[in-house]
Amino acid sequence: MNKVIAIANQKGGVGKTTTAVNLAASLAATKRKVLLIDLDPQGNATTAAGIKENATTNLYNHYFENTSIEDCVYESSDGYKIIPGGEELIALEIAIRNDNKQGFMSKSLEPISQNYDYTIIDTPPTLNQLTIEGLFCASGTLIPLQCEYYSLEGVTGLMNTIETISNKNMSSNRILGIVRTMVDMRNNLAKEVSDELEKHFESLVFNTLIPRNVKLAEAPSHGISGIKYKPDSYGARAYLALAGELIRKVEYV
Ligand SMILES: Nc1ncnc2c1ncn2[C@@H]1O[C@H](COP(=O)(O)OP(=O)(O)O)[C@@H](O)[C@H]1O
Ligand SMILES: [Mg+2]
Repeated sequence: MNKVIAIANQKGGVGKTTTAVNLAASLAATKRKVLLIDLDPQGNATTAAGIKENATTNLYNHYFENTSIEDCVYESSDGYKIIPGGEELIALEIAIRNDNKQGFMSKSLEPISQNYDYTIIDTPPTLNQLTIEGLFCASGTLIPLQCEYYSLEGVTGLMNTIETISNKNMSSNRILGIVRTMVDMRNNLAKEVSDELEKHFESLVFNTLIPRNVKLAEAPSHGISGIKYKPDSYGARAYLALAGELIRKVEYV
C-alpha cells in the first residue's frame, strides 16, 4: 500500500506546508512509513523537518545529475523520510516543461514507492509544472482552506485541473477533501464560511477543524513538527485527529 497524497491550493499562506508536515508526523506516529516530498522552492517543509542544513540533494540533482532517488531521501526529526525542496526546483520546473518531461516525478518515485505506506507531497502556491507533477503522482489531493471570503478563489481551477488529468487517464487523482485551517470560531465570518463549505461540499469537507494555534507556527523554527514540539497543544491534537480521519477515509474503503 502506498497512498500518495498531494497537499495543494494555489493560494499561499493557507496552511499547506503546516498540514503536510504535521500530517506526515502524525501518520509516522501511528507507525506508518511516510515519505514527505517538498516541491516548493521555498523549502519550508524542509526547514520544518529539521534538515535544511544537510539537505544537499533533491529532485534537481536526480534530474540533472542522475543522482539516484534513494540518495535524495533524508531522515526527518519526526520519524518520516523526506525528499527536500529548495530554490534549485525553480530550474527543475522550467526544465520539465521545456524538455516535455511531464510525469518525470511519478517515474522517479517508482523504485522507492513501495517502501512507504504514505507519500505526502507539499506543493508550491501556484499551479505550475511542479504542482502538476505532484498532482500526477497522487492518488488523492487534500486542499487546505482558510475560512475567509475569497478562500474558494482558485480552488475551482485546481479541482478542474485534477478532473482533467484524471479524465485523460493520466492519473487516478481524486479530491480527498477540504481541510479547514487556522480556524477561529470566535470569528463570525469564519463560522459563516465554514458552514457554507459544509453545505456546498458536504462529505468533501473533513470534520476535523485545525484551529489557529501559535504552537504550530513556532514548531518549524525548532526543526520539528507541532506534534513533537507540543503534543498536548490544540494544534497537535487536531492534526492527529485529521490523520485518523484520513486513515479511515483511505484505508477502510
Ligand atoms: N493552524 C495554524 N495556527 C497558527 N499558525 C499557522 C497555522 N497553520 C499555519 N500557520 C502559519 O501560517 C503561515 C502560513 O502557513 P503555511 O503552512 O506555510 O502555508 P502555505 O504552505 O499554504 O503557504 C506560517 O507562518 C505558519 O506557521
Ligand atoms: Mg508552503
